[in-house]
Amino acid sequence: MIAAQLLAYYFTELKDDQLKKIDKYLFSMRFSDDTLKDIMNRFRREMENGLGRDTSPTATVKMLPTFVRSIPDGSEKGDFIALDLGGSNFRILRVKVTQDKKQPVQMESQVYETPDDIIHGSGSQLFAHVADCLGDFMEKQKIKDKKIPVGFTFSFPCAQTKLDEAVLVTWTKKFKASGVEGMDVVNLLNKAIQKRGDYEADIMAVVNDTVGTMMTCGFDDQRCEVGIIIGTGTNACYMEELRHIDQVEGDEGRMCINTEWGAFGDDGSLEDLRTEFDREIDRGSINPGKQLFEKMASGMYMGELVRLILVKMAKEGLLFEGRITPELLTKGKIETKHVSAIEKSKEGLKKCMETLTRLGVEPSDEDCLAVQHVCTIVSFRSANLIASTLGGILARLKDNKGVGRLRTTVGIDGSLYKMHPQYARRLHKTVRRLVPDSDVRFLLSESGSAKGAAMVTAVAYRLTEQARQ
Ligand code: GLC
Repeated sequence: MIAAQLLAYYFTELKDDQLKKIDKYLFSMRFSDDTLKDIMNRFRREMENGLGRDTSPTATVKMLPTFVRSIPDGSEKGDFIALDLGGSNFRILRVKVTQDKKQPVQMESQVYETPDDIIHGSGSQLFAHVADCLGDFMEKQKIKDKKIPVGFTFSFPCAQTKLDEAVLVTWTKKFKASGVEGMDVVNLLNKAIQKRGDYEADIMAVVNDTVGTMMTCGFDDQRCEVGIIIGTGTNACYMEELRHIDQVEGDEGRMCINTEWGAFGDDGSLEDLRTEFDREIDRGSINPGKQLFEKMASGMYMGELVRLILVKMAKEGLLFEGRITPELLTKGKIETKHVSAIEKSKEGLKKCMETLTRLGVEPSDEDCLAVQHVCTIVSFRSANLIASTLGGILARLKDNKGVGRLRTTVGIDGSLYKMHPQYARRLHKTVRRLVPDSDVRFLLSESGSAKGAAMVTAVAYRLTEQARQ
């Protein structure tokens, strides 16, 4: 008994010792609260630059007006189609909004493939593909003879001057179809639909996925005034006072702003915090120098960040007795879903062993513990970074309202936030620490951002109908 206790003690000591070593090795990825507050303040300045008349043309964080002025008020109804392009899946949905108290929204959806040759091909091919899938969906739903209003969740930065026009500023994440940047995506889609000529569609609204998320949550909670995505990419929107938005006429009321916070740092403002691993990720990406904050925090890059760290540690003999395999050296071999599995409290170590064994590095138990800790540091950094920028938005909302205590709801969606076992808890805790005078409710958007696009369309539809009467 005593011997067993001693052994357990010995192992705990060993474990603590090893984890401390990794903490030291990756100290530049572990942020103190002072650093987080500093990031929060830097982000607040970026938001101001993005909104100001003189500073907005060259601002890094673009703060794009969305022409969404209010969340749904519950009086919407109708039959809508929602397209959702730019997240982990391309989906098409039929959304029926009724006044039924029990089940006001009914949805049916289908996922369509977007092969790499399409997202990296020409814009006309991409939109022809979208139009084909929409045709297929309408056929299956037996609504090809109807002109149903369409809401389009397009998860990229777009310059809008109205709800149904959206000029792509730049592609982000995995997309890079030629001839789309600088063009209105509604026009491109309409042309592709006309070219087919076998059905009609009325695209009434284009919304970013963050806006869709805010609207989806807003339907259930009227206090929702922020929408964030932590998935393949990361971004946030929130309701800003119109008097602060210099690019848009008018001073009364509020408008939703798509911050495009993924680009935070593209002007060098995060250089002191970026590590050699972040720089390597950026160099190997399809858009070097762009979306630097996104590359530090979002799901598209997290697994790869872990892999790069493991390669370096193995090269220095700190892991796997220095064994390096071709698999370990292959880009993309560790994905964010693996990081999520490795950090599970019960089966995490087993998952870690499986993942590393697949890479052929013959890990020991100590290696697995160490790699699990590396994953924790990388995903914790992401949650901390996003807590800081979200903290910046919340602090701004609080100032805008001039209240001593902010009571608000944040709508959230995205695969990393949903799948990672510890992420949500860490994010919430850090936000509450960074913005202490607040009661923040985090609401998971259960049915995704596309439902929100249908909501925006429903509101637009209601307003057009009212104007017609
Ligand atoms: C990228 C896009 C942004 C989107 C986010 C989440 O950052 O630029 O528009 O909201 O990914 O999908």
